Amino acid sequence: MCAPRFFTVEYSINPWMDPTRPVSTDRAVAEWTALKDTYERLGHRVETIDPAPGLPDMVFAANSGTVIDGRVLGARFRAPQRTAEADHYRTWFLDHGYRDVVMPQRVNEAEGDLTWTGDLLLAGTGFRTDPGAHAEAQEVLGVPVVSLHLVDPRYYHLDVALFVISEATPTTRAHIAYYPEAFSPGTQQALRRLYPDAILATAEDAACLGLNAVSDGHNVILPQEATHLAGELVTHGYTVHFVDITELRKSGGGPKCCTMELRG
Ligand code: ARG
Repeated sequence: MCAPRFFTVEYSINPWMDPTRPVSTDRAVAEWTALKDTYERLGHRVETIDPAPGLPDMVFAANSGTVIDGRVLGARFRAPQRTAEADHYRTWFLDHGYRDVVMPQRVNEAEGDLTWTGDLLLAGTGFRTDPGAHAEAQEVLGVPVVSLHLVDPRYYHLDVALFVISEATPTTRAHIAYYPEAFSPGTQQALRRLYPDAILATAEDAACLGLNAVSDGHNVILPQEATHLAGELVTHGYTVHFVDITELRKSGGGPKCCTMELRG
């Protein structure tokens, strides 16, 4: 995670970002700290990277790397305003003992668009990550990739349209939640075939960035407005933990965007 000490909304690269609307950096830091405290209270270890001035979106750690079995595929951002973030995270990985770090050739916004389910890597495209990055991810990470097409600009990254609630086991597919309308008709069909038991989010769940949730398979951390989705999760036996993301959402980000998962 990366503290939002330099967080602002001074450019607009998604429909959530309105540079004329006031943003409180202090409140963003408080929201981020509460999220980090929630992880630690639940027994997870959190590593941090120092934020860099002039990179207001660096708080969105999910966009800077995909780590599976200790192998790292870094990021290549579409927007020039975010380009420099990728190298800060690359340096962090090298300084923290990661030996297998590959930087992508194609535009690749990492866990923003790449979601590990335990057996498949779901890979979004349409707004940010280049479809060519999906094949590249399969080669570098050595995992099977399924491409998913995003069609609604408000849901510009896969991680604001879908999340994994519990990972696949050797005999079952992952349990996921998603907002069907964020995807093209063919992708909706593919998701129904792969995940017939998925939780389907409503327009209201999606509109508060409720799908930008983080789950450890038991505990799900999600924005406090996502009450319908939370109810579904509780019905399925999960424990819900709400967080306030009022300031971070002004940039189009939520709990998952602030969190890169270090697998292995
Ligand atoms: N302002 C950032 C952008 O548009 C938000 C990124 C949110 N991160 C995410 N994983 N969806 O790039």
